[in-house]
Amino acid sequence: MPPSISLRPATMDDAGILLDWVNQPDSLAHKLKTTKPIEADQHSAWLAGALESEACLLWILEAEGRPVGQVRFQKTDGSRWNIDIYIDAACRGSGAAQYAIRTAAGLLALREPSAILQADVKAVNQASLKLFDRLGFTMEQAGPDYSTFFVRIGDIK
Ligand SMILES: CC(C)(COP(=O)(O)OP(=O)(O)OC[C@H]1O[C@@H](n2cnc3c(N)ncnc32)[C@H](O)[C@@H]1OP(=O)(O)O)[C@@H](O)C(=O)NCCC(=O)NCCS
Repeated sequence: MPPSISLRPATMDDAGILLDWVNQPDSLAHKLKTTKPIEADQHSAWLAGALESEACLLWILEAEGRPVGQVRFQKTDGSRWNIDIYIDAACRGSGAAQYAIRTAAGLLALREPSAILQADVKAVNQASLKLFDRLGFTMEQAGPDYSTFFVRIGDIK
């Protein structure tokens, strides 16, 4: 894992880096709905709404005080929270995403111990498939384009 890694809540000051990450080709390629780059105005309005919403939890992962990724839990319905994660390419493969999801899950568990985390992962996304397997997610539904995985928050590995 990168040294001095930590997670903090996102703020409007993160709008620029979040926009940069969401529009990276390897971010858009793994999204289910958004496929075209997002405009700055649209992104700022979305972020302002996300930060105010109780159904959205958004954190920035930092390594030595520098932002290296983001993790977002978006409440869908009932106790389900859908995960969106992006780690800067230079910081991948050393456990950063596992740390981010475990830490975020620990924070959510404090307020919602019965929460269920869900990840919708495209079949070609080998890194994500491995990530969610490592964290103890189970496949719930397999589709031609993507599969749905879930874990009860208390069962995360
Ligand atoms: C998916 C992603 C978040 C993983 O981040 P990461 O910090 O590299 O993941 P981690 O290192 O915590 O762990 C993932 C596991 O997959 C492995 N892995 C990482 N990249 C891999 C790759 N390209 N192919 C196969 N396995 C890979 C890691 O080694 C690790 O396995 P290990 O425990 O045996 O070492 C990152 O690749 C990313 O941001 N991708 C683009 C956006 C994306 O796909 N988001 C998820 C959409 S569902």
